[in-house]
Amino acid sequence: MSAANNSQQPIRFAYWVPNVSGGLVISNIPQRTGWDIGYNRKLAQIAERAGFDYALTQIRFTAGYGADNQHESVSFSQALLDSTEKLKVIAALLPGPWNPTLAAKQIATISHLSDARIAVNIVSGWFRGEFKAIGEPWLDHEERYLRSEEFIRCLRGIWTEPSFTFAGDFYRYRDYSLKPKPLDPLPEIFQGGSSRAARDMAARVSDWYFTNGNSVEGIRRQVDDLQTKARANRHRVKVGVNGFVIARDTEQEAQAVLQEIIDHANPEAVQGFGHEVKNAGAASPEGEGNWAKSSFEDLVQYNDGFKTNLIGTPQQIAERIIALKDAGVDLMLLAFLHFQEEVEFFGREVIPLVRELERRRAAA
Ligand SMILES: Cc1cc2nc3c(=O)[nH]c(=O)nc-3n(C[C@H](O)[C@H](O)[C@H](O)COP(=O)(O)O)c2cc1C
Repeated sequence: MSAANNSQQPIRFAYWVPNVSGGLVISNIPQRTGWDIGYNRKLAQIAERAGFDYALTQIRFTAGYGADNQHESVSFSQALLDSTEKLKVIAALLPGPWNPTLAAKQIATISHLSDARIAVNIVSGWFRGEFKAIGEPWLDHEERYLRSEEFIRCLRGIWTEPSFTFAGDFYRYRDYSLKPKPLDPLPEIFQGGSSRAARDMAARVSDWYFTNGNSVEGIRRQVDDLQTKARANRHRVKVGVNGFVIARDTEQEAQAVLQEIIDHANPEAVQGFGHEVKNAGAASPEGEGNWAKSSFEDLVQYNDGFKTNLIGTPQQIAERIIALKDAGVDLMLLAFLHFQEEVEFFGREVIPLVRELERRRAAA
């Protein structure tokens, strides 16, 4: 059975916050996307007006593969919350540099500062060079997920229990009492990754499972596996999928932009990135992981966003989003070439078509 028990809910939209330089493609194509706070405050305001529910910040500690500058995710998220009124901002946390104590405290305070609009994305690491650069041990794939799972259990325990005790392999607590707790609703816990370990963890502890771009069939297979496991654990998890949007008046125009992005790709950076991420995924026992089957062209977008094929006219894109919803997707996580203009265009031209298709289905 597909996990399509989401069909009554409108599909949600999130965008990648460009808080690292170079945009969301490893390409030298001219981009009007900025990574500074001024650009991003305005983008967040455009996005919430356009109908986006969430913004996702990225965590990167060091340059590589086209991201020469990187602003830190939690402080950047706080600034975006300060500039908006209803947008929820998802801050990325990397276990290792963060421990659950610091994360729980920081995010609880931001929950109070933002009227409960903060959420977190627990990432498990793919960039060995980054870990080396900052003196963090590079755990193997399964261990990275074991640590992330303990991290999530501790975060939730600290946020909800009056006095939290935990004895794990990575973290220990004895009668820890965090005050104040975050506001209600609690910050939602997202996680990223496509390997079996990622799905198993999501099926046990995460509120949301974020995965790389893929075909509708590829996504359906992942969602079915995830939701079968979650049901066995009596756990509820929702699904977000990455996609790179190129919406133009004609399909030919949109495809031409895609070709231009790929033609301007920086081959060394793309190959270096591919090598790094395939190594990280190959370390999973089943040899899967986010990028296991990605081609050179796929890797030009960091998270396989071209594979989702949101490239065409607004109508084509809206229909593909509905097909993903039918496969059990609750949220589209979107990237664009020129963020401000294209987020605004997406809100004006694509979201209304998606809502119209949803209305027609509900009435049928
Ligand atoms: C939507 C999404 C967002 C992610 N954001 C980050 C990030 O900001 N920083 C980071 O280091 N890794 C990030 N990751 C990487 C994942 O946490 C994970 O380490 C990677 O996908 C490999 O997982 P896998 O082997 O289970 O496929 C993200 C992944 C996804 C799907």
